[in-house]
Amino acid sequence: MSTKSQIAKVVEVLNQARSMELYGIVQYMNQHYGLGGDDYEKLASALKKIAKDEMKHAEAFAERIKDIDNSLEPTTALAGKITTGQNVTEIFGFNTEAEEDTIEKYGEFAKICRENADPVSAVLFEKISVEEQEHLNYFSDTAAHIKNLGNSFLARQTGE
Ligand SMILES: [Fe+2]
Ligand SMILES: [Fe+2]
Repeated sequence: MSTKSQIAKVVEVLNQARSMELYGIVQYMNQHYGLGGDDYEKLASALKKIAKDEMKHAEAFAERIKDIDNSLEPTTALAGKITTGQNVTEIFGFNTEAEEDTIEKYGEFAKICRENADPVSAVLFEKISVEEQEHLNYFSDTAAHIKNLGNSFLARQTGE
């Protein structure tokens, strides 16, 4: 059995992670609308798909909190201030850093869960980290294409 203080520590990191996911949803959807407005439809739809992954992650963390204690209300706070008005050359490097930060934190959070007798939450962090790694790969590859190929890459991102 976990002690009250162990449970509190696990719930704290689950809420921190949920808050990072909620931030990701809003940040990526903002970028989705901006890229769509600039006619980079393929990039815009990739951002929307990733925002939906973050929605599933936010939900999974909330469900885990409810499993631990059904009387708790999962956080609704965003982990950071939303950055608006980014252009196509800024977005992918920015998101690469966000995903790197997330993977690093989820590694720490998994460790905290194990130290506090909750291997189930630890596994959840590890499972979600695999998907964050896929996001990271997509963002860093796209940032590299934009940097190295420039307009010839961007010209292929229009249309459905
Ligand atoms: Fe996520
Ligand atoms: Fe992600």
